[in-house]
Amino acid sequence: MAGAQFDGLDIKILRSRKSEKWHAYPADVLPAWVAEMDFPVAQPIQDVLSRALDLSDLGYPIAAGRTGIREAFADRMEERFGWSINPRRVEVLSEVVQGLYLAVGAFTEPGDGAIVQTAIYPPFLHGLEETGRRLVENRLVRKPGGWEINFEALENSIDARTKLFLLCNPHNPSGRVLSRPELERLGELVLKKDLIVVADEIHADLVFDSRRHIPFASLAPELEARTVTLNSASKSFNIAGLRCAVAHFGSTGLRERFDARSSRHLRGGLGMLGLYATTAAWREGQPWLDEAVGYLEANRNYLMGELKNRFPGIRCEAPEGTYLAWLDCSGLGWEESPTARFLERGKVALSDGANFGSGFEQFTRLNFATSREILEQVLVRMETAIQAPD
Ligand SMILES: Cc1ncc(COP(=O)(O)O)c(C=O)c1O
Repeated sequence: MAGAQFDGLDIKILRSRKSEKWHAYPADVLPAWVAEMDFPVAQPIQDVLSRALDLSDLGYPIAAGRTGIREAFADRMEERFGWSINPRRVEVLSEVVQGLYLAVGAFTEPGDGAIVQTAIYPPFLHGLEETGRRLVENRLVRKPGGWEINFEALENSIDARTKLFLLCNPHNPSGRVLSRPELERLGELVLKKDLIVVADEIHADLVFDSRRHIPFASLAPELEARTVTLNSASKSFNIAGLRCAVAHFGSTGLRERFDARSSRHLRGGLGMLGLYATTAAWREGQPWLDEAVGYLEANRNYLMGELKNRFPGIRCEAPEGTYLAWLDCSGLGWEESPTARFLERGKVALSDGANFGSGFEQFTRLNFATSREILEQVLVRMETAIQAPD
């Protein structure tokens, strides 16, 4: 039955996992925070990992370029997104966030500006703060139809020292999946202002309602030439612990600048299990992924319905992609952080909006990549927190 493998999650087994999600909080807390799924991983990934263990195949890995991972990524981009790329332009990294930090270091100097569309996945902000780069904030604005880009404000915020656009699409935490007209308008601005783009497209596979993600670099050759695209199988296939990601460079010039600033040994070696699991995911994991996305979409629909009926103080624009819901809790009338209050009084762990940019202290992010039953428990705990006396 479709979805059965996602419905039948056993909370006791989940709690015995060693991942951060299940260990950051005491055992009486239900975690719905960090972006990983509770689902079992796809069979082709399980097979490749079991095979490696059966053979004690845990020696030094062969060079990433010889594993077929770059070709698997290129074929996938062509088949799924109509984006034709040369596998030799693909570099393998251990994580998308590593790529983000390396790109900030390679394409900007301290004091230079980088555009970020807030609210945003926190490492975008840390990557600028920690390296002395200037945050050029372009806040998404809430319109009746959902979160949108404020293009006028964006253009006005760019000055001569704004060098980089850190694009996150599909967007974490809003769940927006940018449309072609929106991306094209961004592209025009990027060319006009001579910006380099780092496009974090890690959630590319996780889009709903028959949408199709559009890689920014696929819009036009002149945009591709100034774009580094970061991607990974870690979100879509739930293998974040295997630490493997890719960066595609739209031009050799970008790649040379990227490489010049970071020695491969300082970047650290790649784990063979991550290389093989990622390749298996991209080559053979699509049937699993189709089922997972269908289940997530149904969870999204359920969540939106329940929020509307049971949580009048919470506002949420339906995510178009990702498995994250960005909840505006200001209607609850709480003074303190809603995330802290849900944790304290409801024993449910969400992600604090304050970490996603200033002004989002009354927001919290809920991860709905779990079984319907556990999602319902999350909601019950949130209700308990709301009903608890002051
Ligand atoms: C937009 C975005 N980028 C990057 C990451 C993390 O990727 P990695 O673990 O490969 O650094 C996440 C994880 O939630 C994410 O949502």
